[in-house]
Amino acid sequence: MGSVRWAFRCGSWTPSRSDWLLAARCIQREEKERIGQFVFAKDAKSAMAGRLLLRRFVCERMGIPWSEIRLERSPRGKPYLAAPLKVSSDSGPEPPSWSFNLSHQGDYAVLAAEQGVQVGVDIMKIAMPGSSSVPEFFRIMMRQFTAYEWSVIQSAGSEHQQLAAFYRHWALKESFIKAIGTGLGFNLQRVEFHLSSEPLTQKCVLRQTKMHLDEEEEDWIFEESLLDAEHHVAVALGPADKAGSAPLRPSLPPPTSFTLLSFSDLMASASPLTEEDSACWDSFKTKAEAPQRQRETHATK
Ligand SMILES: CC(C)(COP(=O)(O)OP(=O)(O)OC[C@H]1O[C@@H](n2cnc3c(N)ncnc32)[C@H](O)[C@@H]1OP(=O)(O)O)[C@@H](O)C(=O)NCCC(=O)NCCS
Repeated sequence: MGSVRWAFRCGSWTPSRSDWLLAARCIQREEKERIGQFVFAKDAKSAMAGRLLLRRFVCERMGIPWSEIRLERSPRGKPYLAAPLKVSSDSGPEPPSWSFNLSHQGDYAVLAAEQGVQVGVDIMKIAMPGSSSVPEFFRIMMRQFTAYEWSVIQSAGSEHQQLAAFYRHWALKESFIKAIGTGLGFNLQRVEFHLSSEPLTQKCVLRQTKMHLDEEEEDWIFEESLLDAEHHVAVALGPADKAGSAPLRPSLPPPTSFTLLSFSDLMASASPLTEEDSACWDSFKTKAEAPQRQRETHATK
């Protein structure tokens, strides 16, 4: 069984013209066009990093040449490998299939992949709400968490600690939603998290948090870690979507922490799929990094 946890710090990535143009050539045309439509450079960079993380993973870990990889999205937007369907391997039992997922928020893009289980990942940056106070922000978000979860969040201590607990729960919920691929439309009150009593610190991966679905404890595993003091990541691992699949916990390898990749790492096995299109750079270089409010918050940190 294999596990992959990769992170790329897109917040501090300032691509040169040649980097950006090469990256744009190495992703599928429709994704290049989608990325070109973002208003802010921050969003374009994180989406680009996400595509490169996915392709690097499929190429290096699934053994598929870059130029043969065809990624598509489910009707609800979850990326999957559409081609090639059959990965050639030596004779013998077929290895468990890979599941993978991406998240990008704050300063990072992350990828989690695992063999033989369902995977969802979510990264959240602990940030003060932009235009409202913390209590007002919590009031707006009231429906996203259960009464029990709110009691845990609101008794976490200082406002910053409450926000950290809020984003920790948020990442857990989203990681589950992303593993099952439903996206918006899932009633978030149906899932309730019971956090591990062990403190979450940088450089450790916790697996003790439990999830209840419709009030029953579920056989899912949640790996929680901090990429740095402000970025919380949750990886949801669920039983493979097959009748009679084995219980999850005994078959999983020990938890792996996220490895930080550089741009050269991302591009190490990349090969161009399309011709150079200098308009990509012309459009990218005119974009503001982020909305004014986010830039101000960043500058005052
Ligand atoms: C699908 C959804 C979960 C994506 O989450 P997000 O926080 O906006 O964004 P993330 O950065 O974590 O993930 C984005 C990536 O997830 C993947 N993704 C998109 N749709 C997906 C889906 N239905 N399932 C799993 N993964 C999905 C994509 O790779 C996407 O990146 P890309 O478009 O650049 O390829 C989100 O759109 C959604 O529906 N969220 C639920 C909203 C909500 O009420 N949340 C409250 C939680 S407390």
